[in-house]
Amino acid sequence: MEAVPFPMHPKMDEQLARAFAANEEEEEKHIQKVQNAFLYYGPYACQRLKRSVDYLNSLSPEDQLLLAKYRMHLECVRTCIDRNQAVIREILRERVLYPSEESSVGPSADRWEFDEPPPDVRHGDMDQAQSTLKLIARDWSTDGALEREQSYKPIIDCIVEYYKPSDYELKEIKILVPGAGLGRLTYELACLGYSCEGNEFSYFMLIASNFVLNLCDYENKYVLYPWVHQYVNNLRREDQVAAVRFPDVCPLKNPPKGHFEIAAGDFLEVYKTADTYNCVATCFFIDCANNVIDFIRTIYKILVPGGIWVNLGPLLYHYSDVSGQNSIEPTFEDLCIIMESVGFVIEKSRTGIRTKYAQNPSSMKQSEYQSLFWVCRKPDPFEQQRGKRKASREPHGLIVREDSEGEEDQEQERTERELKQQPTANDETEMEAQPT
Ligand SMILES: C[S@@+](CC[C@H](N)C(=O)[O-])C[C@H]1O[C@@H](n2cnc3c(N)ncnc32)[C@H](O)[C@@H]1O
Repeated sequence: MEAVPFPMHPKMDEQLARAFAANEEEEEKHIQKVQNAFLYYGPYACQRLKRSVDYLNSLSPEDQLLLAKYRMHLECVRTCIDRNQAVIREILRERVLYPSEESSVGPSADRWEFDEPPPDVRHGDMDQAQSTLKLIARDWSTDGALEREQSYKPIIDCIVEYYKPSDYELKEIKILVPGAGLGRLTYELACLGYSCEGNEFSYFMLIASNFVLNLCDYENKYVLYPWVHQYVNNLRREDQVAAVRFPDVCPLKNPPKGHFEIAAGDFLEVYKTADTYNCVATCFFIDCANNVIDFIRTIYKILVPGGIWVNLGPLLYHYSDVSGQNSIEPTFEDLCIIMESVGFVIEKSRTGIRTKYAQNPSSMKQSEYQSLFWVCRKPDPFEQQRGKRKASREPHGLIVREDSEGEEDQEQERTERELKQQPTANDETEMEAQPT
């Protein structure tokens, strides 16, 4: 798959369609599958609902009486599913990603829904259709503000600290956000004036982000019920059917100061040109690789010398235990060794950053990651020659390294002194000694 500039305005549709033409057939089949999954959303979600309703109907009259309000609640769940499907229809209405004459999906189509599972759609696709709704809440609603504060703010603050608006012409600073999801992090960085490119390979994400970025014409126009599929851990009936409005910010009305585009395609296939970006920002992304080393090498390659990689997220390793997929799951310790071996200098690293991901704030079950955060630099040989930056010493333990260079030196000297005083210490215990 090739990189395709995502249109900022619907009028660029044709250009996008032409860009797809190279792999036309394959691409269209894939997009059609995603559209089919979106269109089958309602019937699929109602199948689950029907299981509860059928069982409820089979209970004794006394029990049914006790559950009268619950029955009404299930009706409400059905209404929410219908409303979600209506928003999904809006999302698909423009079909800007790949307009097709013969496609059954479109404004002129009479088939807006599938009653039977479309032949090419799997359960995994339906899960993705449902989680797209939750990710809209994460990226583009006020309800997602906490998650964005936890995940995006540390990255944004760090980039602003490294590329200070007072020191740089921000539009000259090229930032790539691989695994951009619904695009909010990329948008926020572009709003600050940086020149930003998001990259994403999931058409669930691309179709939904296109809708928010290009087609929503005012704030909070749409209402979704992203938690309606969560039948368990609800304190109150209303928690399952809570409404979320989006977009909290309308990108059409608030276009970013800096250049902004979303490129469709697989990160590893699209980004092959060395020395291109000043900064790569990854959020909940690096564990999406079969082999994370491929991601690390690519990030290193595409950064300009002196450029930085800012990362935040856990090590969930999405392909771990997925049948038919290869996966390795290196620990943070291993990643530190890998990053330095590839050539990066780890300038900062922190562990234990509390981050939620697409969580229903009212659910009784709340899970959060103790995420990692780091900043790595691709050394600039010329700068190094001038002695401005020092090569890092390896290996890194799980050490908080937020201090300034001067303090780092003192810390290093102190550690070296302490180690000399510990005749039995060996390398392995050093590595494990300091989890934070
Ligand atoms: C866990 S989500 C994180 C999304 C977003 N960064 C956030 O924090 O909400 C990871 C995203 O990376 C995308 N992704 C995974 N592997 C990719 C690849 N090889 N190339 C491009 N995008 C990829 C997925 O489709 C998904 O949208």
